[in-house]
Amino acid sequence: MSAPTTTAVRPLRIGPLVSATPVVLAPMAGITNSAYRQLCREQGEGFYVSEMITSRALVERTPETMRLISFTPAERPRSLQLYGVDPLTVAKAVEMIVAEDLADHVDLNFGCPVPKVTRKGGGSALPWKADLFRQIVRGAVTEASRGGIPVTVKMRKGIDDDHLTYLQAGRTAEQEGVAAVALHGRTASQHYSGHADWDAIARLRETVTSIPVLGNGDVWSAEDALDMVQRTGVDGVVVGRGCLGRPWLFADLEAGFAGRPERVRPGLRQVTQVLRRHAKLLVDFYGDELRGCRDIRKHISWYFKGYAVGGDMRARLGLVDTLEALDELIADLDLDQPHPGAAAEGSRGRAGSPQARVALPEGWLESQELTGAAAEMIRQAELSVSGG
Ligand SMILES: Cc1cc2nc3c(=O)[nH]c(=O)nc-3n(C[C@H](O)[C@H](O)[C@H](O)COP(=O)(O)O)c2cc1C
Repeated sequence: MSAPTTTAVRPLRIGPLVSATPVVLAPMAGITNSAYRQLCREQGEGFYVSEMITSRALVERTPETMRLISFTPAERPRSLQLYGVDPLTVAKAVEMIVAEDLADHVDLNFGCPVPKVTRKGGGSALPWKADLFRQIVRGAVTEASRGGIPVTVKMRKGIDDDHLTYLQAGRTAEQEGVAAVALHGRTASQHYSGHADWDAIARLRETVTSIPVLGNGDVWSAEDALDMVQRTGVDGVVVGRGCLGRPWLFADLEAGFAGRPERVRPGLRQVTQVLRRHAKLLVDFYGDELRGCRDIRKHISWYFKGYAVGGDMRARLGLVDTLEALDELIADLDLDQPHPGAAAEGSRGRAGSPQARVALPEGWLESQELTGAAAEMIRQAELSVSGG
């Protein structure tokens, strides 16, 4: 691969939507709800995607799903990620999104590696069934086009190294009229282990030429993002784990892509201010103080990565159940600590080991066509629960 020598940063266009900063907040189940998206979006321009919403649960209007698809008036454009395995159900979900004006952009999830999803032929297992993939994308694009809403596809490289699907799926998505494709440079079997394969991202960029291609995987800093664009030629980067506990990464990304050197390096006082605001936004999002406080607990270790906050204090913060209790614990910290440098940067969130065998429906790998019994199974396989 011959890497371009300069980073030519252009605005990212997803159909009619444009962001001067070519950055997307990756959909993350249990994380990228309206509260977190707001916090990130305030830091810089980009596309901020909801956690995955199950098509069937949307069509059935389950109460939790209706909460998960809520966007505040300040959240524009609204990017909603849909998961589905049955073309009719996905099309119905998109029809509902258009008819009820629920989003400005629909992203389709073909990247989820979780066994409960791949076992049913969904997520990263699905593009292997080439016709089924095409039908889902076609149905979604047809329905979305009635409302002028762009559809994007997010996928992994494939099931494992012997069953790669991303180039074929990228071409199909392009033919079916999607507005952009994003590739997480891992197979399902890799889960979150090892390094994302940026060469694969470059190959997709060379293969899919008429729409934006977005790269995803292991962007932990603005420098990584610029590096990815330079090495792969992608039109934008999708950032997941890198922003956990530091929504200000989006300010760094905006500055980096604009060629500015400044980076946000907060002391502990500023970190706790953002953490506190995150907790309050979660309480508002759930309309329930205990639930919001329970949810903030999982973010605590990410916010404090690299700062001198003792184990006992972290344990107490991990049990916090009211905003008042959170305030009291924060007041006990040494808030004058400056940013600790490299210790606060770098990787965070899921890593883990590869899956020896990806859980798949019986006989899934035998053919890329969906045959009778498997087709019937797919109709039954729609999950009814959204998010993580
Ligand atoms: C906690 C968590 C939840 C995730 N949930 C989703 C999801 O709902 N939909 C999806 O397409 N990807 C999901 N992903 C994958 C991310 O969008 C992203 O592809 C992956 O983390 C690689 O990017 P990164 O290296 O920037 O984290 C999730 C990842 C994490 C860590």
